[in-house]
Amino acid sequence: MEMQKYICLLLVCALGVDGSCIESEKQALLIFKETLIDDSNYFSSWVGDDCCAWHGIGCDNITNHVTQLKLRNGNIGGKIHPFLLDLKYLTHLDLSYNRFDGIQIPEFFGSFKDLIYLNLGHSNFEGSVPHHLGNLSNLQYLDLSDYEDSWVPKLRMDSIRWLSKLSLAEHLDLSGVNLSNATDWFSSLNMLSKFISVLGLSRCNLPDNIPRRLPFMNLTSLVSFDLSNNYLSSSFPLWVLNNTNLAHLYLGYCNFDGLIPESIGSLSALSVLDLTVNSFQGPIPHSITNLTSLSELYFTDNKLSGSISPEMGNLTELTDLSMWLNSFKGSLPETFCQLKKLKSLNVGKNRLTGNIPECIGKLSNLNELILVENSWEGFVTEHHFINLTKLNILLISSDSELILSISSKWVPRFQLICLYMYSFKVGPKFPHWLLTQRKIEALKLSNASISDTIPIDWFLSLFSNSPGVDLSNNDIYGDQLSLISRAPNGLAALILSNNRLSGEFPAFLCNQTTLRTLALSHNNFSGELPQCLGNLTELIELDLMNNSLSGKIPSLGFLGDLQYINLHNNKFQGKFPLSFQNLTKLFVLDVGKNNLSDVLPTWSAEQLPNLKYLILRSNNFYGEIPLQLCQQSTIEVLNFADNQITGNIPACFGNFSAMVTGDISPNHLDYWGSVQMIDSMKGYEQVYTSTLEFLFSIDLSNNKISGEIPKELMDLQGLLNLNLAGNHLAGKIPDEIGKLKNLIFLDLSRNELHGPIPQSLSYLNFLSQLNLSFNDLSGRIPSGNQLQTLNDPSIYAGNELLCGLPILKPCAADTNSRNVKDGHNEADTDSVSDDELMWFFAALGPGFAVGLLGFFAALRFSDIGIYTSILVNRFMRK
Ligand SMILES: *[C@@H]1O[C@H](CO)[C@@H](O)[C@H](O)[C@H]1NC(C)=O
Ligand SMILES: *[C@@H]1O[C@H](CO)[C@@H](O)[C@H](O)[C@H]1NC(C)=O
Ligand SMILES: *[C@@H]1O[C@H](CO)[C@@H](O)[C@H](O)[C@H]1NC(C)=O
Ligand SMILES: *[C@@H]1O[C@H](CO)[C@@H](O)[C@H](O)[C@H]1NC(C)=O
Ligand SMILES: *[C@@H]1O[C@H](CO)[C@@H](O)[C@H](O)[C@H]1NC(C)=O
Ligand SMILES: *[C@@H]1O[C@H](CO)[C@@H](O)[C@H](O)[C@H]1NC(C)=O
Ligand SMILES: *[C@@H]1O[C@H](CO)[C@@H](O)[C@H](O)[C@H]1NC(C)=O
Ligand SMILES: *[C@@H]1O[C@H](CO)[C@@H](O)[C@H](O)[C@H]1NC(C)=O
Ligand SMILES: *[C@@H]1O[C@H](CO)[C@@H](O)[C@H](O)[C@H]1NC(C)=O
Ligand SMILES: *[C@@H]1O[C@H](CO)[C@@H](O)[C@H](O)[C@H]1NC(C)=O
Repeated sequence: MEMQKYICLLLVCALGVDGSCIESEKQALLIFKETLIDDSNYFSSWVGDDCCAWHGIGCDNITNHVTQLKLRNGNIGGKIHPFLLDLKYLTHLDLSYNRFDGIQIPEFFGSFKDLIYLNLGHSNFEGSVPHHLGNLSNLQYLDLSDYEDSWVPKLRMDSIRWLSKLSLAEHLDLSGVNLSNATDWFSSLNMLSKFISVLGLSRCNLPDNIPRRLPFMNLTSLVSFDLSNNYLSSSFPLWVLNNTNLAHLYLGYCNFDGLIPESIGSLSALSVLDLTVNSFQGPIPHSITNLTSLSELYFTDNKLSGSISPEMGNLTELTDLSMWLNSFKGSLPETFCQLKKLKSLNVGKNRLTGNIPECIGKLSNLNELILVENSWEGFVTEHHFINLTKLNILLISSDSELILSISSKWVPRFQLICLYMYSFKVGPKFPHWLLTQRKIEALKLSNASISDTIPIDWFLSLFSNSPGVDLSNNDIYGDQLSLISRAPNGLAALILSNNRLSGEFPAFLCNQTTLRTLALSHNNFSGELPQCLGNLTELIELDLMNNSLSGKIPSLGFLGDLQYINLHNNKFQGKFPLSFQNLTKLFVLDVGKNNLSDVLPTWSAEQLPNLKYLILRSNNFYGEIPLQLCQQSTIEVLNFADNQITGNIPACFGNFSAMVTGDISPNHLDYWGSVQMIDSMKGYEQVYTSTLEFLFSIDLSNNKISGEIPKELMDLQGLLNLNLAGNHLAGKIPDEIGKLKNLIFLDLSRNELHGPIPQSLSYLNFLSQLNLSFNDLSGRIPSGNQLQTLNDPSIYAGNELLCGLPILKPCAADTNSRNVKDGHNEADTDSVSDDELMWFFAALGPGFAVGLLGFFAALRFSDIGIYTSILVNRFMRK
């Protein structure tokens, strides 16, 4: 012992170091520091002689050599000087959570031959990971992971074979490294060190080249394996299952399909199993109940079905269980009430039926209880919540007969942060116990059978905490909101649509400058909109549809975030506010059914680069259609019907490129409302991409438009609806009309069109409503294909010179009158029934079907404007 100390002392003296760090290493560190950028003064402690005492430095306590350099989370950037290599005895190098933006991982890192621990994660290194790291034969821990929410891979590797040279590696995290060219990834897995216990391959863009006959993985020490967020599209990775020590298995977001294998039950050490967002089908394998160590189990967003086995109640270690968005049916087993450690139980969006077990009230650790969108029946009572003292998030809804039955004196033992009770009989009175909840941040009591006035004190006190309040689709009445003169700030979303609220526009809202969503549609608000509405600069959505608001539309030019304005069906008058052209993010603008009187707006496409839905119908717009409109290539729905528009249809309408392609582009609306409230809590729900996306329509009907139908209009092949009825259009129907191959509705009636009906009309396979009546069309009505089903003679009425089927008039060349007679008989039978049409659309996919049904219904009342709004309301607000 003494001897060793002595030798050591000698050594130190020989190196000329007086008990602190080694001079040459100190110099290396100082040079290393020089080339770095240190905005946060991380290196302020790097003064004085003893570099071993500097922040982040560790020295060997015998040799004094620097062995550790740990600069985690230092906000450091800049260049890494190769002088660092003078730290020959480095065993730990941690540069994680810094910002080496854009620089490569230095190749010379591969020369730190003693390195055991290397962490370069989350530091924004870029480029190819140098193979030189494969020389680090002592390395046990390598972390190159890098991903953020808005993640774009920065590091890449085109082979991972060299990782097998790290024969002592235990922890290997490559999450976020782009491995899309590493076609050897799968075959390399078995070559990795047999000590690997943690392997992270999340978000690696792994190539989808897993061999058909999968070899088994022989990494028997594996404890944690993360393969999530790779688009692998295979069946369950059975090759994982040999790792009987596996405790954490992350397979979310991989597009896996097929069954979850029964053999999963062999992973007896499993404590976290995450299968979130895949396409697994079939039942939960019975053997899952073997996994008694499971504490977190996520089936979120798959296609799983079948009933939930009562034996799952044996998984008593569970703290988090999510079955969200599957097709589970049957009842929620009472045995779940044995899961005493549960903090989060989420069975939302399934097909569960029966009663919600009352014993759930015993799960006293529950923090989140999510039961929405099932078919629950019966009653929800105080007993359901009796011991839920820690509950913060409660979401319940049902599409069946579920009733809240709680005494008005009840004082719950929880303080909720988020309460959703919708599509569920909570009313008729506002539940009194709500007044005890002082921390609510998001409240949704929509479609809750509430027929009452709003308790104003409670409503106002809500605002101090609650960014989001949704009381839509009830029978809430009264004008008290208009009478509020003072209110605390803090509201971000207020949704009161579909009630019976009345009085003036609630002026106190002007002070809610954090408001982003305001929806008061389908009420009886009256009077003028206050100018101070222009104070709500954060507003994204303004929905005042179907009220009795009047006066001028105030200037909204400062509300630069507005994406959705719906003032449909009110009594606004005066000019169309010029200030709308300031709203660069606008994508829905609906002022239809008002008394506006103005020329058509002439803003430029640069000003409203996102505008897709422009609805001005049923006002008093006059003058010609401005040519600037044609540059608005994003337009998908243009409705100018029922105005006083004159002039021609500009040929440049052919520039509406969105209508040309008919490509479905995602909507821009960052809808904050109820949807994103869930979003921000759990990340489960995404903003609904509404069915609006496939609606492409032009309606110029009932104006005074003259001239010919420009043949350029026939380039808009994405159009589903073209309505030019009730104008003074003359000339012929363009022969190219057959190019509008997606057209479902075509109305050219009540114009002055002449000449023959183009035969190409029969190419329109989807055409289900046609009206050419009251023009001067002549000649034989074309036949064939879809036209065969449009056999109601009235759609051709008022064209004296037409002949043939289905009208009763033989053409001059017709010698065989029998055909005509047959035609008549045919005309007696119904045209395609609504039901048939519905199923036809259903076959196109659920979103499409729902939308088109709406579309269909709406066109029946020839009111696309309303339709648009309803869709926005219905699908975005769900
Ligand atoms: C030196 O460090 C090692 C570990 O790094 C430690 O186990 C040992 O106790 C230390 N010795 C002294 C004398 O501090
Ligand atoms: C993959 O290889 C292709 C072709 O060599 C190359 O263009 C591409 O940049 C590589 N991608 C990555 C992430 O390395
Ligand atoms: C795994 O199997 C491969 C051959 O498939 C073999 O080369 C490798 O050494 C094995 N690894 C371990 C850790 O057993
Ligand atoms: C992996 O499991 C399969 C099936 O259980 C078995 O056939 C194979 O021998 C196992 N492989 C290893 C390396 O344990
Ligand atoms: C599950 O446990 C049962 C009983 O202990 C056993 O018979 C069965 O083989 C296990 N299943 C799996 C897949 O390990
Ligand atoms: C599992 O649960 C079932 C019924 O829920 C019960 O009969 C069985 O004994 C339980 N098994 C174990 C191993 O606890
Ligand atoms: C509620 O918890 C208390 C103790 O905290 C316990 O005595 C009581 O039995 C529990 N009630 C129910 C219904 O579980
Ligand atoms: C709005 O805020 C102003 C200034 O803070 C205040 O004077 C006014 O009373 C508030 N109005 C309402 C209706 O809350
Ligand atoms: C709202 O706007 C009006 C002008 O329209 C202004 O006088 C008032 O101070 C603004 N209120 C707030 C709270 O910003
Ligand atoms: C449009 O916005 C600009 C800058 O934000 C502002 O100066 C201008 O007054 C606004 N115009 C209208 C009509 O509101």
